[in-house]
Amino acid sequence: MGLPSFPNMESGPGSTEFSLCAATARARAVHPPRRVTLSSLCILALTLFHLCLGTRANAESGREAWLRYAPLPQSETGKNEHKKIDFINAGDSLVLETAQHELVRGLRGMLGPSWFASGKLPGKIMLSRNGQSRMQMHRPLSPLSEDGFWISHQKCQGTDCLVIKGGGDRGVLYGVFALLSKIARGEDISALNEVQNPAAKIRWVDQWDNLDGSIERGYAGPSIFFEGGKVRADLTRVSEYARLLASLGINGCNINNVNANPRVLQSDFLPHIARAADAFRPWGVRLSLSVDLSSPKTIGGLDTFDPLDANVAAWWKAKADEIYKLIPDFGGFTVKADSEGRVGPSSYGRTPADAANVLARALAPHGGIVFYRAFVYDHHLDWRDPRADRARAAYDIFHALDGKFEDNVIIQIKHGPIDFQAREPVSPLFSGLRKANEAIELQVTQEYTGQQRHLVYLAPMWNEVLDFDMNGTEQKPKMATEPQSEGKKQVDSSWFVKDLVAGRVFRRPTGGYVAVVNVGMDENWLAHPFAMANLYAYGRLAWNPNLTARRINQEWTRLTFGNDPVVVKTVSDIAMKSWRTYENYTGFLGTQTLTDIIGSHYGPNIESSEENGWGQWHRADRDGIGMDRSVATGTGFAGHYRPDVAKRYESVATTPDELLLFFHHVPYTHVLHSGKTVIQHVYDSHYDGANGIAEFVRDWKTLQGKIDDERYNDVLRRLEYQEGHATVWRDAICNYFLRLSGIPDARGRAGNFPNRVEAENMELRGYVPVEVTPWENASGGKAIECRDGKGCSATYRVPGIATTYEVDVVYFDQNNGESRFRILVNGRKVDEWVADDHLPAQKIGGDSSTRRRIYRVELSRGDEIRIEGIPEGEERAGLDYVEIFPEPE
Ligand code: GCU
Repeated sequence: MGLPSFPNMESGPGSTEFSLCAATARARAVHPPRRVTLSSLCILALTLFHLCLGTRANAESGREAWLRYAPLPQSETGKNEHKKIDFINAGDSLVLETAQHELVRGLRGMLGPSWFASGKLPGKIMLSRNGQSRMQMHRPLSPLSEDGFWISHQKCQGTDCLVIKGGGDRGVLYGVFALLSKIARGEDISALNEVQNPAAKIRWVDQWDNLDGSIERGYAGPSIFFEGGKVRADLTRVSEYARLLASLGINGCNINNVNANPRVLQSDFLPHIARAADAFRPWGVRLSLSVDLSSPKTIGGLDTFDPLDANVAAWWKAKADEIYKLIPDFGGFTVKADSEGRVGPSSYGRTPADAANVLARALAPHGGIVFYRAFVYDHHLDWRDPRADRARAAYDIFHALDGKFEDNVIIQIKHGPIDFQAREPVSPLFSGLRKANEAIELQVTQEYTGQQRHLVYLAPMWNEVLDFDMNGTEQKPKMATEPQSEGKKQVDSSWFVKDLVAGRVFRRPTGGYVAVVNVGMDENWLAHPFAMANLYAYGRLAWNPNLTARRINQEWTRLTFGNDPVVVKTVSDIAMKSWRTYENYTGFLGTQTLTDIIGSHYGPNIESSEENGWGQWHRADRDGIGMDRSVATGTGFAGHYRPDVAKRYESVATTPDELLLFFHHVPYTHVLHSGKTVIQHVYDSHYDGANGIAEFVRDWKTLQGKIDDERYNDVLRRLEYQEGHATVWRDAICNYFLRLSGIPDARGRAGNFPNRVEAENMELRGYVPVEVTPWENASGGKAIECRDGKGCSATYRVPGIATTYEVDVVYFDQNNGESRFRILVNGRKVDEWVADDHLPAQKIGGDSSTRRRIYRVELSRGDEIRIEGIPEGEERAGLDYVEIFPEPE
């Protein structure tokens, strides 16, 4: 058949070729439009000239994140003109020095080069720390906590000035970032008089980085900390990361995987860890380490790691002393034990409190903290036992130990009882501890929410979790703009999660927030430009959990993409819908994300949750679905909540629809509060979800020219991929439950694809049909693969009327080869591409299924469509189906 080797392939829409146009658009974003005069035109021309001469590194890669300090348009510069003179620092610590540099950097970037640190009193902007001012000043409206700040207009030796006063050094730095953010967002600062205190003391991030440079559940390249078993020689990215964290008020970072390698604590390794701590220090970020509890034995030479053994206690004490000599501001240890194969105190019949306390006592003299993770469960549960329930584990274990933990131990609790699913109830452990400090653990890295290939803005979910009242009162939490001061409780009758974790409800000495972030060496930190909105939102919520997800997103959009109101509205509208949309096409009604839980955690694999010890069961059979977690007839988990909430979850009638199947087993015909049956909800939500992403693509396209080409195209390419993958999810779940329940979709969509031609039904040359496992992950349960290295083809004739079509080719893009494809109509090539994405897949199936969309193809009845594939490596140019849709006029 003479298959060619496709020479001179054209680049696809994601091409990065440099052109004047691209530079022009980028320049437009870097320098938003000003009123154009003759001289400004010259300046613009010169600017473009310089951009073309090779400032490509400064293009909008996303590396600057929300700290771009892009020049402001004339009008906004004017607003702040009166402060454009000079400024002075009033302190001498490393962090204060950083604050001063950052202020100059930000003001120069946004307002022009006339800003500088003069050293003369009085400056136009003054930085000062509590108790350190060299001038008479008014008092702040409310007291400042250590990390809090006050920005206000004052008279400084008779002249007007803006003062940023911090409770401590970090407070000054946070105040600087807050001021710069306001200026960048075009806020009027002429009458500023604002005190901000963070809601909680602990505002940390965790990285799950391994010493070999890989990152567990990391989706944005290798570690910024480690490489080849060592701490990286060049820690530039670590400093830049610390700057990003500090800009959000985050004051700690645990840098290695919770599945810890004991090597981090070895004496020859610690000086290298100290280098990373040095990179953090100017930004006020404390470094901490995950530790393996068996370390006293594995690297310490003891014959035990029993936490109650005196030698073990002495070993931890000596280790802590050694660390603090190298890293005086060391944060502490994070512990994962007796969980998912990690050893722990249970090896010696000891409790998590015994283990936490031996570490806590070693750290206490130095001010260090133990973060003991409540993610402790047995992953060898008996799935046949109707009383077995993984969701119970954290509460069963830790509630019983309340009152037994040292004061410098924090129990780090995942927000839900299972594991970062797209929908879970809030963990009942938040109200199950009164005498222990708590931190909520959130996940910025999108392990179960599309792995930064899908756009999912998680702040609306976090708002729901943090605003959840464990006492079950209907009262809506106030959405104030500023947090309450540390230590004060907001509404007496309510136990909001945000107040519990901050330690306000039970007056705990400490507590707060931890998020698993997993930035990597990718230029833009988290791969998907929108994923950075999650890191931004996490930091903002840890500072002030009363902020709404929308407001935070608008801030982020302004800082990331500029202040054009159309961009701000479009981006935040997409973001605000994205979590529910993702939930719609993945899991439903509290079944959790129906992904491959024993593999990639990415594509669909419904049965992977069932009939194994991992305990993520949804117990679907031909009659019904859901886990009965009621006290009366189920596992009893509902009884872990406070009485009003327990009562709500105990009954089918009062459980909210979105959590129904988490708490109850019901027939597919059960009618929800929404008025739909469960099975119709499955069909409708999945079609809504997939359609929702198609809308995101359309909405995003309206922003062309309003955002630099680089990021515009990057997001577009990702959204188009997501649209295809959402369809894979939709079909897998609808087809599966259609077959299992035998109840058809009342709207006739599920299992019915009139525009689709299965690859296995085409005329095949070289290609062979293969079964796909699980069957629901390919249309018709089958696909075709090419076993001939020279190439294969699949051909069919167009059945429909003559018009312009959109042609979708669904193929499989594995990460162990780069097959090439092309499509021809009546022998004329209309498109070609390489399957070179890096999806988490080594075989055909739901993880690798990918769509190529070809727009505006003229087709007539009987035309021949031929797909040609050339396999490469282990990837066999797999094809699933072709679908054609008449294009709207
Ligand atoms: C999830 C995740 C693991 C991780 C674990 C944890 O199970 O898949 O990779 O180690 O959470 O939080 O400890």
